[in-house]
Amino acid sequence: MTLIEAARAVRENAHAPYSNFKVGAAIRATSGAVYVGCNVENVAYPEGTCAEAGAIAAMIAAGETRIAEITVIADSPQPVSCCGGCRQKIAEFADGDVVVTMTTVDGLTAQTTVAELLPGSFDAAYMSRA
Ligand code: THU
Repeated sequence: MTLIEAARAVRENAHAPYSNFKVGAAIRATSGAVYVGCNVENVAYPEGTCAEAGAIAAMIAAGETRIAEITVIADSPQPVSCCGGCRQKIAEFADGDVVVTMTTVDGLTAQTTVAELLPGSFDAAYMSRA
């Protein structure tokens, strides 16, 4: 199964009754293993979580820490982009040159990198005096 197929499949499980916007994400970790996640909304709206966050949590729970590739899919007019919070979450576990594939359920695809998604990111270097 490709990463896009994995993201497409897990998107079906999204819990998105409030936005009606289902998102799926799939990560290939550096081991080659694939981890998936979907958005999980909550009636207390801010408690909802994004698909990328779910996939990252699955990767970390499995004992892995490095993302080799990540794909996100939604039913959007243009390939769905990762929200700001997810960009920071992805950057925690991915090098800047890691490819981020954004897709639509109709098959429109765009690719970028973690560094392009989050220029000037806050990282541990800023905390070197702490
Ligand atoms: N969403 C994601 O899962 N990932 C993103 O990067 C963008 C937004 C979800 C959150 C919420 O459940 C729904 O899409 C609408 O914002």
